[in-house]
Amino acid sequence: MLLPFFLPFLLPFLPFSHPYPEQALGNLDFPDPSITYDPRTQKWYSFATQSASIHVQAASSPFFFPSTWSLLPKVDLLPVPGKWVNSVNPLIWAPDVHYINSSSTGQKWIMYYSGLLSGSEYHCVGAAVSYTGILGPYEAGDEPYICPVEQGGAIDASGYEEDGKRYVVYKVDGSAKGPGGPCGNGIPPGEPTPLRLQEVYWDDGVTKIGEEVELLDRDSELDGPLIEAPNLVKIEGKWVLFYSSHCYNSGDYDVKYAVSEEGVKGPYVRGGQLIGKLRGNFGFRSPGGASAVVLESGRGGMVFHADCGVGRCMWETEWVMGRDGVVGVVE
Ligand SMILES: *[C@@H]1O[C@H](CO)[C@@H](O)[C@H](O)[C@H]1NC(C)=O
Repeated sequence: MLLPFFLPFLLPFLPFSHPYPEQALGNLDFPDPSITYDPRTQKWYSFATQSASIHVQAASSPFFFPSTWSLLPKVDLLPVPGKWVNSVNPLIWAPDVHYINSSSTGQKWIMYYSGLLSGSEYHCVGAAVSYTGILGPYEAGDEPYICPVEQGGAIDASGYEEDGKRYVVYKVDGSAKGPGGPCGNGIPPGEPTPLRLQEVYWDDGVTKIGEEVELLDRDSELDGPLIEAPNLVKIEGKWVLFYSSHCYNSGDYDVKYAVSEEGVKGPYVRGGQLIGKLRGNFGFRSPGGASAVVLESGRGGMVFHADCGVGRCMWETEWVMGRDGVVGVVE
């Protein structure tokens, strides 16, 4: 079924009769999946949060839309997460990998991830680099990369590039130091959990350029204790910030989006839910942690997770942006 108000804009973008969303990797715990195309191997890759003793899980597919994901079993892209990470319980979350091909420093793959800061109850964002290929080995930095400890740390970093500029978006993890309630931050007024944007050098993906910029913060009426899992794309001349709200283990977790028409730094106007209880409801339990790519004019693909009984399993879907700026999932 198509959403009726999309109909005039959707028809050019319906090359498949395939129904989406579709479970992408079987009943495997693969939370917070990211997605990236690797020009070296000419395959698509998805990376996911720690499951059992594997810090960074990986899956690949020769195509995306339609895709045939397969888990790369027993592969851990980040066996040594860095000296700054708690070595007993590293809790590596939400990895994201970007390919860098610099005319001055050559080819590399940069991984952003979150880990439990040693001697702390908070997570911070780390960066690791591979010079050999997308599957590593990745060498982690000795120090955390983005670590506002006094604000609760930072998690869920993902990269974004456009027109020779590179950025990292991430969540300030204020909910980790909140006063209690759902996800530890549901008792008013709670702590802020802003999504921030940091410009970085094109050639290394980590050296910071200027100050970070706040893109969006939680609205406790709309978002409950937090917003997190930011992911940026540009489509039809607009910037779309996908994110999740509410606690990841609650029935209110979702995929939301906000749109900026003026620039990557915003202002971002909330567009509401893409996948969740109120809209784009496919019967998912706690969907969220999405990553998107633009596939062609007005049309993109997305991976996300939903509770599947054995953990959080990966799903994929197609999405479109109509001329009115409304983003929707194609059923
Ligand atoms: C990387 O850049 C070099 C030029 O600097 C180019 O020759 C090469 O094709 C690029 N590789 C990929 C995989 O894009």
